[in-house]
Amino acid sequence: MAGRDLSSAVRVIPGAEELAAAAAERVAAVLADGVAARGRAALVLAGGRTPRRAYELLAMAALPWERIWIYWGDERCVPPDDAASNYRMAREALLSRIAIPQANVRRIAGEAPPEEAAAAYEREVDAALAEAPFDAVLLGMGADGHVASLFPGTTAMAERERRVVATFVPRLSAHRVTLTLPALATSRTVTFLVAGADKVPALERALRGAPDVELPASCVRSRGEIAWLLDGAAGAAGSARA
Ligand code: 6PG
Repeated sequence: MAGRDLSSAVRVIPGAEELAAAAAERVAAVLADGVAARGRAALVLAGGRTPRRAYELLAMAALPWERIWIYWGDERCVPPDDAASNYRMAREALLSRIAIPQANVRRIAGEAPPEEAAAAYEREVDAALAEAPFDAVLLGMGADGHVASLFPGTTAMAERERRVVATFVPRLSAHRVTLTLPALATSRTVTFLVAGADKVPALERALRGAPDVELPASCVRSRGEIAWLLDGAAGAAGSARA
């Protein structure tokens, strides 16, 4: 089912399966274009629940995975086999289903002390960006408007120099490692994948476009298009805007 196109960047796709398919199709197209144009491409994965099905469908795409590198936008500070690990979710839904060289999979060391993991990953990200910008950054959004592990009111949100930081999220009483806004802004494309009525209030503010440090999703920038793929419930925000 084609999504209603509210604007060039916002699409409401009512069904969960169609939403996941639209996200997988968009990411696959960006990656294929990147490999065709530059011989390689880099994908930054989102965590959380929403992207899982999109990753399972992305695994079915006929892509030259040996030419694609995979990074994460953030990670919980837990071991890679922990149920909360973003890496584990991606391994189950995508990595275990594709022929990608292990060397192309660049996970955040959630098992390491947060500051060490952040410093190590910043070196990874800097090495990647020395080659080329990230082709496709996939992001979810929390009901409070957080993206990756950039939560409202945290010092991570205020970071304008470092590319990767460790952050403590009081609301979750949890340590995270996250890419920062400057790192996300290097992307060639950003795709937000947002589902659920609980996201509507934050979406309505984020879709207005004015950056609000209390709403991290509104502060995300990209070198290219930022696409919002919304399910029917979240899309109420989009229709309100239109
Ligand atoms: C994480 C994600 C986070 C997620 C949002 C939305 O590590 O949890 O990076 O930013 O995208 O919290 O999560 P859901 O998709 O589960 O609603």
